[in-house]
Amino acid sequence: MADALRIGIAGLGTVGASLVRILQTRADALAMACGRQIEIVAVSARDRTRDRGVDLTGIEWHDNPVDMATTADISVFVELMGGDNGAAADSVRAALSRGLHVVTANKALLARHGVELAKIAEGKGVLLNYEAAVAGGIPVIKTMRESLTGNSFSRIYGIMNGTCNYILTRMEKEGLSFADCLKEAQRLGYAEADPTFDIEGNDTAHKLAIMTALAFGSEIAADEIYLEGISNISIEDIHAAADLGYRIKLLGVAQKTETGIEQRVHPTMVPLDSVIAKVDGVTNAVALESDILGELLMVGPGAGGNATASAVLGDITDIAKSRPGTQDVPVFGTPARLMQPYRQAEMQSHEGGYFIRLTVEDRAGVFASIAAKMADNGISLESIMQHSKRQVAAGDPQTIILVTHATMEASVRKAVSAIKAEGYLLGEPQVIRIERPKDS
Ligand code: NAP
Ligand code: HSE
Repeated sequence: MADALRIGIAGLGTVGASLVRILQTRADALAMACGRQIEIVAVSARDRTRDRGVDLTGIEWHDNPVDMATTADISVFVELMGGDNGAAADSVRAALSRGLHVVTANKALLARHGVELAKIAEGKGVLLNYEAAVAGGIPVIKTMRESLTGNSFSRIYGIMNGTCNYILTRMEKEGLSFADCLKEAQRLGYAEADPTFDIEGNDTAHKLAIMTALAFGSEIAADEIYLEGISNISIEDIHAAADLGYRIKLLGVAQKTETGIEQRVHPTMVPLDSVIAKVDGVTNAVALESDILGELLMVGPGAGGNATASAVLGDITDIAKSRPGTQDVPVFGTPARLMQPYRQAEMQSHEGGYFIRLTVEDRAGVFASIAAKMADNGISLESIMQHSKRQVAAGDPQTIILVTHATMEASVRKAVSAIKAEGYLLGEPQVIRIERPKDS
């Protein structure tokens, strides 16, 4: 048998502790599969005294992950701490510069510094593997980076945040409050250390930015993603969507247009009969539309200790097996020095259908005025209705719901501003974009 692969793991939280447990309990099977042992030589976390439910006897402890990256006798540095800067960035840079392979689950780090880190890795001839960074246990990175080479992508989209999908599903199916669902997602180890990254869409944006680079060969541009989270989605929206034949999902979408690449993350209505509408709970789904293959939809566990550790383990065993040619796979599919500047398509020119929910004063002419503002802006309506589950008395606030045919974002914004100016709106309008998967 070849010499053991010596690894160091920085971060022993939800993912790190699961990884250690799996590496220890499956050591023999992994050695058989890889033709060599995988040995945990060193670990790093903040609190040495914390019981993590795993046996760390005989493993070198480092309070400082940068120190581990620079001094431990390892050939693979596994980063499972999180954060786009600080210890994660410093230790990964140090490890790559030292010529160590790096495995990370850290999408925030890659979204911010991915191209820079890829240049270091490719310059040193080492691997920077990050399967767990996008869509948890679903092997989307390897699929895009290796299996679909040569395909030209037109649109990639998906449910990429387990926490949000878990919240939306439980709100709809069990009528639980947003806050209770979020607490449960945190308890189950799905949420980020700061859960606003989940619910405000940043985590999905980080993942989308990475996938956009893989799909289109452009540099990562996480800050140029149009971003809306799910924190203002109400149970009323979820019910209204269902009544109209839709379900609300937080989607990340990247699409090639005539003017550039559109990247957006927002709550989205998808038709109830589409597969993606039926993806529930912490499960993620990623759809890849390309010219040679057509549409590929991958569905699987999107977050949690084991699902994520499974993807990290795959990255480590790839290195352990050292398949011929593995060292030559560029980090983002395209060699980092050849990645093109990102050309952004303006959100104002996004085209699609829209759901608009308005709470209005009950007075004569309001319905007609709303319809007129839509027409003035060239928006064709699929439906307009007064909507309420309960009996609303005359004079009480009324809910009006519009669903548009495909139109421009700019037109919708103008129409909504014009409606606001009329003075009969009570509260902010709710605008949710509609996305049509190929199967709907
Ligand atoms: P976590 O439970 O919060 O664990 C973070 C670990 O990093 C803890 O062990 C912590 O030490 C350690 N750490 C933090 N800062 C450190 C520092 N400066 N020096 C040394 N150790 C430090 O996080 P997680 O959920 O496992 O997530 C880890 C990474 O995986 C993140 O990048 C996350 O985005 C990504 N990810 C997570 C999931 C998931 O479902 N949880 C899925 C995919 C990707 P202490 O334990 O001593 O505090
Ligand atoms: N917080 C993330 C999620 C973890 O809920 O999807 C997986 O990346």
